[in-house]
Amino acid sequence: MNPYQQKKRWKYLLLTFAVVIAIGSLVYTRYLVKNIARSERTRAQVWAMTMRQLLNSDDDDFFNYVIAVRDSLTVPAIITDEKGEIILSRGLDTSKAYTKLEAEYKKKKYDPSYFKEELAYMKEQHAPIKFKVLGDDNYVYYKDSALLTQLRLFPYVQLTVIAIFLLTAYTAFSSSRKSEQDQVWVGLAKETAHQLGTPISSLIAWIELMKEKFNAEDDVLIAEMENDVKRLEIVADRFSKIGSKSVLEEHGVYAVVKDFVDYFKVRVSKNISFELTGNPHLKAGLNIPLFDWVIENILKNAVNAIEGKGSIKVEISGNKVKNQIFIDITDTGKGIPRSKFDTVFQPGYTTRKRGWGLGLSLTKRIVENYHNGQIFVKDSEVGKGTTFRIVLKNTRNDNKTKTR
Ligand SMILES: Nc1ncnc2c1ncn2[C@@H]1O[C@H](COP(=O)(O)OP(=O)(O)OP(=O)(O)O)[C@@H](O)[C@H]1O
Ligand SMILES: [Mg+2]
Repeated sequence: MNPYQQKKRWKYLLLTFAVVIAIGSLVYTRYLVKNIARSERTRAQVWAMTMRQLLNSDDDDFFNYVIAVRDSLTVPAIITDEKGEIILSRGLDTSKAYTKLEAEYKKKKYDPSYFKEELAYMKEQHAPIKFKVLGDDNYVYYKDSALLTQLRLFPYVQLTVIAIFLLTAYTAFSSSRKSEQDQVWVGLAKETAHQLGTPISSLIAWIELMKEKFNAEDDVLIAEMENDVKRLEIVADRFSKIGSKSVLEEHGVYAVVKDFVDYFKVRVSKNISFELTGNPHLKAGLNIPLFDWVIENILKNAVNAIEGKGSIKVEISGNKVKNQIFIDITDTGKGIPRSKFDTVFQPGYTTRKRGWGLGLSLTKRIVENYHNGQIFVKDSEVGKGTTFRIVLKNTRNDNKTKTR
């Protein structure tokens, strides 16, 4: 299993685990809430019974006993008479107001609005408990205790806090991993360029010496050798450019792409035809050695995707309003399933036996980080072909400008 598949498997496993924990926590809290709610209703009922006993009895001992029972019950509740007039309350914020009875007893102002609000809320929450005092019907209304209310909210608060924590940790870790990766890329590229530099300079010198020694200025073999050394120089240049801050120069996109396509097409099978079309006047900031690398990676992939005969079309167009240039590269290869449109850009993802899965991730890096552009799979159908799109910023809107 390649590292990409392994990472994906872990992601799914952890996600499943997180969902199980979240569901487990919600279900268990629901169970607790249900049980506590049941016990709170029982308390409200017992409170109603104690009140009935208190109001109906004149036995002092029994009275004290009932008061003790009553005070041990902590459900916020209100008693009303038959007409809905509030008679008594418990467990509410008495600093806000007094019931009519309490106000009379304590000689305070009677302000029923707070109790009315509370009563309306209690009516919404639970059905009342009815009991009789001296032949009259009385009603106990009650609401969830503060504890139960908190318990109802607790799992949501807890899961939100955990989610925020995990998200922060994930962002911090992935950004530090990304900067580590950047360092490796840049370091490796610099070192490669450096290591290639010395033998290339020597080779150039040796070739000059050979020409002199054998008096072979126009020798075909030496010319071929020179070509290969030039190619090596380009490779070293690319690596050195990846390892340093990119410098962009304004170039005609069509001309740059054409130069590379012309170079590339004679080096692949004759069964693959190439076509380049589009607006030749669009200009963008380019770093040519790096941009050539982008086009090369995409063209190589297109060639790999075409098994046998096929065609590769490159079309360059512009969007004047958005000031963008589009380079669409379409092949008639095996295609990419929709679910893999983003995955193909991940380092290590490959379907080729001898591939490293680095081409597109490097390409994306060059387009996004060095050219401030975008690259994505615009379209693809399995068995029919694929279109990759590169979006660059148009540096000049003037369509009549001469290309390089
Ligand atoms: N034009 C295309 N058509 C079909 N599949 C493609 C195309 N371009 C890329 N892919 C898929 O994306 C994968 C990743 O491409 P990428 O260039 O990153 O790596 P690679 O070509 O497999 O290896 P290398 O590191 O040598 O480039 C390929 O293996 C292939 O499955
Ligand atoms: Mg590739």
